[in-house]
Amino acid sequence: MSMSNASGKELAEFLYPVSPKEFLSEYWEKKPLYVRGTPTKFARLFDRERFDRAILRVGFDKRKPGPFSLRALWRNRHDLQAGIEIEPTQVREALASRTTVCVNDITAGDAALAEFAAHIKRQMNLATPVRFNCYLSPDGEGLDTHYDARHATIIQISGSKRWLYSRLPATNYPLANALVQKDGQIRHGEHNNRRQKLDVPTPDESQFEEVLLEPGDLLYLPPGTWHNAKASGESLALNMAFETIGMLQVLFPELERMLSEKLEWRAILPATPLEQTRPGEVPLEVEQFITARLGELRDMLGKLSSRGVELERIWRRAVTSSPYVSLDGQAPTSPLKPEDVLVRTEPYPLPYVRRPGPDGTQFVYVYGCNTEVLLPGDALSLVRGIAARQRFTVAEVEQWGDISLKQGIEVLDILLTRGLLRREGEQVTAPVVGPTPADHV
Ligand SMILES: [Fe+2]
Repeated sequence: MSMSNASGKELAEFLYPVSPKEFLSEYWEKKPLYVRGTPTKFARLFDRERFDRAILRVGFDKRKPGPFSLRALWRNRHDLQAGIEIEPTQVREALASRTTVCVNDITAGDAALAEFAAHIKRQMNLATPVRFNCYLSPDGEGLDTHYDARHATIIQISGSKRWLYSRLPATNYPLANALVQKDGQIRHGEHNNRRQKLDVPTPDESQFEEVLLEPGDLLYLPPGTWHNAKASGESLALNMAFETIGMLQVLFPELERMLSEKLEWRAILPATPLEQTRPGEVPLEVEQFITARLGELRDMLGKLSSRGVELERIWRRAVTSSPYVSLDGQAPTSPLKPEDVLVRTEPYPLPYVRRPGPDGTQFVYVYGCNTEVLLPGDALSLVRGIAARQRFTVAEVEQWGDISLKQGIEVLDILLTRGLLRREGEQVTAPVVGPTPADHV
């Protein structure tokens, strides 16, 4: 799927009349937001037909991507809601037997939704994956009071659903979901096989806000916000869910990369003979080994900086990557001529950074959807020129700085091939993109 068929205003339209700026400063991570819409607001975004097609496309695929699951939610003998994996052909039966059907990451089967999610992410500079989960509920069915560890943005596609939710999160960024049991006790979910010990009081549900979500309506709930929901008539809703990839997960792969270059960090800690080990003491070699490694770690952390190229690249890659979408680049079909008009593919300011490499040579990194292009440092004037315009002729690049037309064309060829630029009037050809999600941090 291409990233080029966008206005760049998807987030503003999605939240309208609340502006992205107001959303991020007043509501994001802080408190719920309910936006009353119009029946046509999300009409082009999704519908029941697209739901059926999406689950057929991925639901039978044995190589389906990890985040995809199609489940029926039912009550087990402890009266707790549990999900069982079903086949696409069992959806009708599940609805008839009064269970909610839940599809996690339906963007795996719907390219337009995947592209929409990618644009929302870009327009928030969000360094974490954004996906759509989908809920199809029969009349009267829904979810008991719980909170999720993730941000949720529910948008009503068809039918309607009554939502009750706490005015503020009960806790910020919990590690796991939690559920209010029938006896009023709170049951915390597990995170990394460990149950989180959190002292969260049982919510007073009489204080909950109540809204009936109808087609076009949106409800944002920060992580840790209590809520329950019940369909009124058959309800189809999407939940735009934001993964929670925090600083720890951003930094950890980079620390791992740097440290595993060193033998001592790959090696096992020293083995020592048991008979020489005094009870109550750590063998001297082990102690010295740990002390030395901690010294190296302190040194290394002392050199890391938010202005350092590796961390900036990690952040830029994280905010410009999304699963199931990519830039559709292609090598120029004929050599570029001075009079050719080129246009930038994405409706965003061109993200780029110039940094010295380990030997002091300058490099320029340029970003687009799932793309990081490394250019020689003398391409900077050209990259700045491109960043300042959406459209230009090849001949112009000579006037932007110290680069010759010949060198300029070499760089433009690369940017065309990688999809960041295209020739005006030339159709973007969509290569077949398999259901393999792109890597993210
Ligand atoms: Fe939830």
